[in-house]
Amino acid sequence: MKRIFGKPLVTQEHMRTRIKELGRQISEDYVDRPNLLLIGIMKGAFLFYADLVRAIRLPLQVDFLVVSSYEGRSTTSGKIKMITELTEDIKGRDILLVEDIVDSGLTVQYLRKILGKKKPRSLAVCALLSKPERRKVEVAVEYIGFEIPNKFVVGYGLDYQQKYRNLPYLAVLDDADMESGQ
Ligand code: IMP
Ligand code: MG
Repeated sequence: MKRIFGKPLVTQEHMRTRIKELGRQISEDYVDRPNLLLIGIMKGAFLFYADLVRAIRLPLQVDFLVVSSYEGRSTTSGKIKMITELTEDIKGRDILLVEDIVDSGLTVQYLRKILGKKKPRSLAVCALLSKPERRKVEVAVEYIGFEIPNKFVVGYGLDYQQKYRNLPYLAVLDDADMESGQ
């Protein structure tokens, strides 16, 4: 990370404000549900997840799934692999999946199908980002932080070839960045 990316698409400040709003809304929507389990979809959601759980004012439990769909490329292969298992039993529970970004929609579609079979009481999705122009399948995403244009973005947990996840804001990765492999 030799240089700071010129154009943050979402600044740290904006991120913080929006995540607080999402936390408030989720807290209201789930106020009567004592059994809430937030499942963070790793690795991309790790920073968003950590901020979101702290913005929710309800007792909740945490769990994680490591899912891989891109295998190092910047366009979707459509192949989704679940690399880890859940540690909690989700039957009869209110489940909120926390994703970094909904792009083609294939990951969310796959997870809804697989987890839906385990008979949770409810299953909803909260994504920090959504690229509606890229959707290949229609999927329900109950909470969205920001809708963004059709650009490849990195930072705040999102990667390009496993790099840039630690950028504290969201930036557009342009062709020059990809070529230089910085
Ligand atoms: P989908 O299955 O096509 O909706 O893609 C979901 C996954 O693709 C996300 O969880 C991300 O890991 C990855 N992804 C999609 N767009 C981007 C991007 O702009 N930057 C980094 N990762 C992305
Ligand atoms: Mg991902």
